[in-house]
Amino acid sequence: MKNLLKIACFLALATACTSRSGWSQWEETVIDRSDSVMYVAVMPSDSAILRASSTDLGPAELASAQLQALLAKMYRTLTDPSQDGVGIAAPQVGINRRIVMVMRYDKPGRPIEPYLNIKVDSLIGTPVPGPEGCLSVPPYRGVVRRAPKVQISYLQADGTPVTEQVEGYSAVIFQHECDHLDGILYTDRADTVYVNEAWAAEREGFDYARPEWWKR
Ligand code: NI
Repeated sequence: MKNLLKIACFLALATACTSRSGWSQWEETVIDRSDSVMYVAVMPSDSAILRASSTDLGPAELASAQLQALLAKMYRTLTDPSQDGVGIAAPQVGINRRIVMVMRYDKPGRPIEPYLNIKVDSLIGTPVPGPEGCLSVPPYRGVVRRAPKVQISYLQADGTPVTEQVEGYSAVIFQHECDHLDGILYTDRADTVYVNEAWAAEREGFDYARPEWWKR
């Protein structure tokens, strides 16, 4: 009995084991083994990841080379012609951490920027309806009411803490991406959801298969 207990404890420790970088073994696998254009989790097959809540990055993850690799790959994924999105959240690539990338329509040149440990502090103004889609919910679109302005707090890629207010379409993207970090999809909030025929046609023959190493 004692031995069994010892084995059970050892197994529990081994499962919880994280490397010095602070990432779990699964997270390290995703970051290391993903191509530069990452597999994007889709509903309903990847609902376990997409519906989970994400946690903050700790000091070890923030200082790690893996974080820089993950951000580079998320950027490549978001901007790849096969995806071509305006925002992406880490759960969409298999990592349940509070990381999003957003195209800043409110800045010159519309840069795509990373936001770490991000939280929406407040939604400001009367919600207005607008069209939305999600790389993880192809080939649908929907109409969702979102606040026209948000206050967000986050860390920049270099660890600098920032609190700012964002308006317009960028504010909508922040709300959509931060929802992902709480396991919420835009379809949960949408007034209407419909098949986007153009996207369906564009995606005809698209390979949604997970990579062979994607086993949890
Ligand atoms: Ni999305």
